[in-house]
Amino acid sequence: MNDIYNNLTSIYGEAPVKEPARQLYFIEKCRNIIENEEKRLGRKLKKCVCTFGCQMNAHDSEKIEGMLGEMGYIDSKGEEDADFIIYNTCCVRENAENKVYGNLGMLKHYKKTNPNLKIALCGCMMQQESVIKTVKEKYSYVDLVFGTHNLYKLPELLYNCLSTGESNIEILSAHGDIVEDLPSVRHFKYKASVNIMYGCDNFCSYCIVPYVRGRERSRRPEDIINEIKALVDDGVVEVSLLGQNVNSYGKGLDCDINFAKLLRMVNDIPGILRIRFMTSHPKDLSDELIYAMRDCDKVCPHIHLPFQAGNDNILKRMNRKYTKEQYIALTEKLKKEVPGIAITTDIMVGFPGEYDVEDTLDIIRRVRFAGAFTFIYSKRTGTPAAVMEDQVDPDIVKKNFNSVLETLNPIIYEINKEKIGKTYKAMAEGVSDHDPELLTGRLEDNTLIHFKGSKESIGKITDVKITDCKTFYVLGEEI
Ligand code: SAH
Ligand code: SF4
Ligand code: F3S
Repeated sequence: MNDIYNNLTSIYGEAPVKEPARQLYFIEKCRNIIENEEKRLGRKLKKCVCTFGCQMNAHDSEKIEGMLGEMGYIDSKGEEDADFIIYNTCCVRENAENKVYGNLGMLKHYKKTNPNLKIALCGCMMQQESVIKTVKEKYSYVDLVFGTHNLYKLPELLYNCLSTGESNIEILSAHGDIVEDLPSVRHFKYKASVNIMYGCDNFCSYCIVPYVRGRERSRRPEDIINEIKALVDDGVVEVSLLGQNVNSYGKGLDCDINFAKLLRMVNDIPGILRIRFMTSHPKDLSDELIYAMRDCDKVCPHIHLPFQAGNDNILKRMNRKYTKEQYIALTEKLKKEVPGIAITTDIMVGFPGEYDVEDTLDIIRRVRFAGAFTFIYSKRTGTPAAVMEDQVDPDIVKKNFNSVLETLNPIIYEINKEKIGKTYKAMAEGVSDHDPELLTGRLEDNTLIHFKGSKESIGKITDVKITDCKTFYVLGEEI
């Protein structure tokens, strides 16, 4: 971590123009202010980073925590004892936004008890003009606002805020270059997420992500490989490669690379034991990728392959670019080439015009998913689906949503039940949150497991025999 300071000019000179040196300079400037505050208050300053979104957002939060940690902030117990609170927001569904507004209302109260408290908002929700307007009008006590394209500038923006005491809003409408090598922390010792690409170009007609995350761009393979090697040196044995659509990785780069090739390169890194990735879009899932999954011993036999809806007409209007039969054929090919593969998915219910879910139920029964995230369609202003006329009555949506769960959950349970009595490899991630006698981990196919085992096994892959199961996890014991 300290190496990255080598190219840093003195903090008393001019701010460097180039990144990441510029932000490292501002981290130092913030650190000076924070140290003075610590002396004045006779205690450390505390931070609270709250994540509202997906894995990509959670990974951004690790970067935010890394930068704040370098400035000298330590973790608070919760929002109530923090000196800096930042909400990393999501806007994929309306309820994600409502949660942010609800919590934000409460923070005003904390400002009264701690006048030094700084409140910041960032993430996807902030990329919408209407949200910025609302924040300015109703939540003027927020000190700092930035978006998804300038997350790396947090040190500079926070410095302006801390040194002037004035609030600061900076939202960029488009992305610039990818900024590498800023500090980051990890929430898990043995597993880590690595961004391989940013943004999305698919414009599914219901989805806000391409508008708030910008155009698709891939990181250079050497940057990804170097990051993973550094993680291995730091004790990581499992990596998750992240992107909104990892299957189209490499487009636009000036080298001969695609996702299948990247997987093979990561598979060759000594010390890595497990490789996962998400999310895959069915339209870009090539045979080459399926063969890479088959051939690479460290790539886990699991794929998260959202299908959203089963009806061809609905899929067309969603702009998903595959049909029900094409999706099913793809899953059959995966099952044939990668024995024991677990297929998980995202399902959306209630898209405009979707009055019944018969085709969705048909896919669920034929593919037999090992798990699924299920969502009720939420209208997102600015997307093509928001202005479609045939929005579905909420009572019909609720009924259809229940049919989806009633079909899905027994299948997930059956798949888990088939594991009872068999032996699998589990990665022991730590002690279970619910029972200190048990360890928690994941099987190769991503099934969650709680098992009796030695604490010495934490961070290692160990053999476990499955003894029982519930719908969303299995139970077992180390053998
Ligand atoms: N890039 C990923 C998904 C990102 S968003 C992919 O395409 O697979 C995660 C999930 O949120 C989506 O798969 C979809 O099921 C759901 N989602 C996206 N927009 C939504 C909306 N407007 N209403 C409800 N669910 C939505
Ligand atoms: Fe949204 Fe579709 Fe992109 Fe996924 S692929 S982020 S659902 S637009
Ligand atoms: Fe993720 Fe939500 Fe943004 S799903 S990409 S945090 S809108």
